[in-house]
Amino acid sequence: MTTRIARAPGRVNLIGDHTDYTGGLVFPMAVDRWTEIRFEPADRVELTSADEAEPVSLPLHVADPTAVNPHWGRYVAGVVSELQPTTGIHGHVTTTIPIGGGMSSSHALEVAVALALGFEGSVVELAQLTQRAENRASGVPTGIMDQFAIAGGVAGHALLMDCGALTIEPVPVPEDVEIVVRFVAHRTLVGSAYADRVAECAAAAREIGPLRAATVAAVDGIADPVVRRRARHVVEENQRVLDFAAALRSHDLAAAGRLMVASHESLRDLYDTSTPVMDAAVAELCATAGVYGARMTGGGFGGCVVALTAPGALHHGWGVRAVDGARVTDEA
Ligand code: GLA
Repeated sequence: MTTRIARAPGRVNLIGDHTDYTGGLVFPMAVDRWTEIRFEPADRVELTSADEAEPVSLPLHVADPTAVNPHWGRYVAGVVSELQPTTGIHGHVTTTIPIGGGMSSSHALEVAVALALGFEGSVVELAQLTQRAENRASGVPTGIMDQFAIAGGVAGHALLMDCGALTIEPVPVPEDVEIVVRFVAHRTLVGSAYADRVAECAAAAREIGPLRAATVAAVDGIADPVVRRRARHVVEENQRVLDFAAALRSHDLAAAGRLMVASHESLRDLYDTSTPVMDAAVAELCATAGVYGARMTGGGFGGCVVALTAPGALHHGWGVRAVDGARVTDEA
């Protein structure tokens, strides 16, 4: 029997956070850390993991992914229940993505499981299926950015993604920069204010229409001051994503760095998703020679910060490169 390998990268977002679930713009890239599943066909879904004590064993029909144990099996079960595969797998999971470190280890697992279970379809369909799986497994209404970046990565490129139109425009990462991710604190979005933010943006959209099309003037008219601040972040962050992509294209690295800092400040002051430890990490990075800019990245409330730097500027952290998206291959 041939052993096959489903391989899915992690991701880091350079700019554009808390915009995806409003149909906004984001700018992530798939990074050179991977979750791999070596697998063979089987009757059930049976996975062991190098990083987890307990194996996962599931039938091909799972009614409630949230009831599955061990806990990591819920992500697997979410995919099984969405995909409804006709054949299972017997496999082993390894990863070089720091688990719970803010580089989308759980999303990479979902995408790898979907591919191992024979998912056939477009990058967009793979991202949508695994987003639904994540939402079901975690109960958190997360957006599509992470799975879309993992499925649709392009080597050497960051991804200008429109989460409304579900399109990806690859933008080359300049060769003379480094992107460094620093882990700040473990976190989970389960039980965090993430769902509140999604609800606040929905409230804003009920008042002024889709945030993607809203102007700052319209946002200024929102009655509730908290909803107004959230909407202002989203509208301005969408513009920063476009400006950042333009800055990378014209190799204006100083401007790109300033936009990252402005994004961080907005997530801190308007969106309330940063923490004092993340603020301190960003300040320390920005005070280091050769750093163009830094910001929190991803959902916030802990997780990681990301910096754009001249080569060799930072000695601590994970230097990452942009890689291609997830795929299945035969074992070499
Ligand atoms: C998490 C979610 C994404 C996105 C980011 C914030 O990573 O999974 O969908 O909302 O937070 O940009």
